[in-house]
Amino acid sequence: MSWGLISEMGHVAIQTTDLNASVADATDILGLRVTERTDGGVYLAANAVHHELVYVESSRNGIHSLGLIARDGDALAEVRRRAAAENVQILSSRPLSAGVADGFAFVGPEGWIFEVYTGMAPAEAGPLSFGPDRYGHINFHPVDVRGMMLFLSRVFDFRLSDVIGDDFAYFMRCNPDHHGIALIKGRGTFHHHAWQTQSVGDLAKLGDRLNRKGRELIWGPVRHGAGHNIAAYYVESSGAVVELYTDLEQIYDDDREPVVWGQDENWYNMWSDRRPDDFRTFGIPPVDHHF
Ligand SMILES: [Fe+2]
Repeated sequence: MSWGLISEMGHVAIQTTDLNASVADATDILGLRVTERTDGGVYLAANAVHHELVYVESSRNGIHSLGLIARDGDALAEVRRRAAAENVQILSSRPLSAGVADGFAFVGPEGWIFEVYTGMAPAEAGPLSFGPDRYGHINFHPVDVRGMMLFLSRVFDFRLSDVIGDDFAYFMRCNPDHHGIALIKGRGTFHHHAWQTQSVGDLAKLGDRLNRKGRELIWGPVRHGAGHNIAAYYVESSGAVVELYTDLEQIYDDDREPVVWGQDENWYNMWSDRRPDDFRTFGIPPVDHHF
């Protein structure tokens, strides 16, 4: 159960210079389905909801906004109050996305835009022929990683699941999923959006689909130490990294103490100390935009 104001991760909205290529990546490689096309973008989902991923055509690749689902109307009202108390710039007092009932959007630390909403519309479920069951988490690289961690805690009630090093990385949850948002100290870029599937065999199928298109996994399958998920990663057309994962730790004790790792401990792959040197160099920035 969720204890805080955010009950679920909602969606990621990505600005892309090649809308068709991005949608093809999401449908043909990841296995999502298009739920709606509007002037504002293309909406996609794995789960039986209106959207979990949105692509917006743009002259620059980057993150448009990060969507979070408030527990209910009272929780949304409280997030609005806390955002106002933080003196953040409110971009819109209404939702940015189609398919949600109520919500607002603001500019958070380091230019990241958060859209918080209630009333995500249901949608007819897809055939589940291949692809993930649902959207799971994001991972991005704030310059001030501690500042972002404190902000997510203060404004949304995210809790710490794992802590790595001295202000190096924080894995934070809003519900039993070990992390909905993972933060690793970096250069202010978004690294990956992650999708839950049922079986490690699905990760192999992802590798096969990439191979048939002359693409590749950039890492994995691995089993992470922090979160215990088995994960594999590729780079989508926008430059963002996509993770497909299974077997993520579920935390039902809301007061579980954070697991603490040394920065040099192997929190990233329980099966091997090897890691591709360029893994963290991929990613896309937040994008300036006007609504
Ligand atoms: Fe991840």
